[in-house]
Amino acid sequence: MALGSNLGDRRVQLEVALARLAAEPGVTALDVSSFHVTQPVGGPAGQAPYLNAVLRIETELDPRELLQRLQALERRAGRDRSREQKNDARCLDLDLLFHGDLSMRAPELELPHPRIEERSFVLAPLCELEPERVLRGCGRTVRQQLEQLNGQSKTSGRVFGETLCLHSPAAAQAWCRERAKRGESIGFVPTMGALHAGHLELARRAAAENDVLVVSVFVNPLQFNDPQDFQRYPRDFAGDARMLTGAGATMAFTGDLTQFFPGQVGADGKLASAAWIEPGSSAEGLEGRHRPGHFRGVSTIVRRLFDVVAPTRAYFGQKDFQQALVVQDLARARGGPQVIVCSTSREIPGLARSSRNQLLSDVERRRAASLFAGLCAARELWRGGERRAEALDACLKSTFGRLDIELEYAEVRDPEAWTAAPCRGKMERAIALLAARVGRTRLIDNLRLDEPGSGVR
Ligand code: PAJ
Repeated sequence: MALGSNLGDRRVQLEVALARLAAEPGVTALDVSSFHVTQPVGGPAGQAPYLNAVLRIETELDPRELLQRLQALERRAGRDRSREQKNDARCLDLDLLFHGDLSMRAPELELPHPRIEERSFVLAPLCELEPERVLRGCGRTVRQQLEQLNGQSKTSGRVFGETLCLHSPAAAQAWCRERAKRGESIGFVPTMGALHAGHLELARRAAAENDVLVVSVFVNPLQFNDPQDFQRYPRDFAGDARMLTGAGATMAFTGDLTQFFPGQVGADGKLASAAWIEPGSSAEGLEGRHRPGHFRGVSTIVRRLFDVVAPTRAYFGQKDFQQALVVQDLARARGGPQVIVCSTSREIPGLARSSRNQLLSDVERRRAASLFAGLCAARELWRGGERRAEALDACLKSTFGRLDIELEYAEVRDPEAWTAAPCRGKMERAIALLAARVGRTRLIDNLRLDEPGSGVR
């Protein structure tokens, strides 16, 4: 099924709808795409863009019953179909796309959805879940049909070509300088590859807000304090490049450590001490304490990447909250770029997307999902009026004490006034952060407790 919203806080509308769908009797939510921003089709001018996603569910309900439930959820979100004109903005739009292999044609419902093949705003998120599904009308797969539509699209004003792949930072720098000389704004998304839908949300936003989008793919050895973690880190540059084309990246580049730091890497593979960039005080505590040297490695590579690309705007994920703080300090000290922090993209039922998730077994993945549930428990306490840091911390820790998870830390901080030491006493703002090992895999996550709109599920 498809979800859409272009009224109010769209991300919150979709998150709430996902939570309600997951709790609906007779419905099991299996898998959700990332959120895609798309321009409204038809309707009055000046309408806000839509946020769209596709959800895969398992259900015992017949399609008519399911449709009624979806419409009830739309009403619960505040939508009143009786007062609505065709193509009006809507706080929530829930559509059934398929119901197994069923074909049906009734006035209230047609399956498969009759207009799916012409709607790239549905096909793009669907392509994340079922790229090889064959569409009956055209006989093409979802992926092929999406490529066809993107190739034809003249109305979107932006037709994405193949992403140019460069294999050295020097070549990337020359390319970026050329584009900047033409007066083009450069959006930049630094990554370590093994891209997932969360990375692609950042990429699509950067593509929409800038003339060109540059993505770096480099598993940076400087930021791994555990050599085994570095060895196990998934790598797939060819796969990444294909995904980046779909997300609108103009250029992607990679390289090795000696190319990033010419003349500064010794025969032992170590970087000369003068080349390191020391992070500011945001690097202290939590990740900084549990991964000694990690933020020094992040600062060193990010500073170098900023010098190579000289971006107008750089996009980072809230999922790595402390990293985003460290990078903001760095950008401020360097005099740019503008750093934009994007919401955390989550799987069903709330596990933060991460390249490391692919290292989890099915059992571990289910266990990992309880990390988000623990963060939500602390948020419930906050919503119930609890403001004492000690009580919020204790709630977080007790949730995980009962689980088969090796917790490294779970603590509450003031998101706008970072401190290495735990907070004490009454808080005005709060973010809960954690790191845990599930099997051999280390995962991190966080949740703002004081913002109703963050990570609603
Ligand atoms: P990586 O883990 O590949 O992440 C690249 C960017 O994607 C980071 O800004 C991260 O916060 C963001 N991201 C990852 N998962 C996300 C999710 N579920 N939702 C939203 N954003 C998400 O972070 C790094 O690489 C490296 O430290 C790097 C900055 C590239 C320096 O090496």
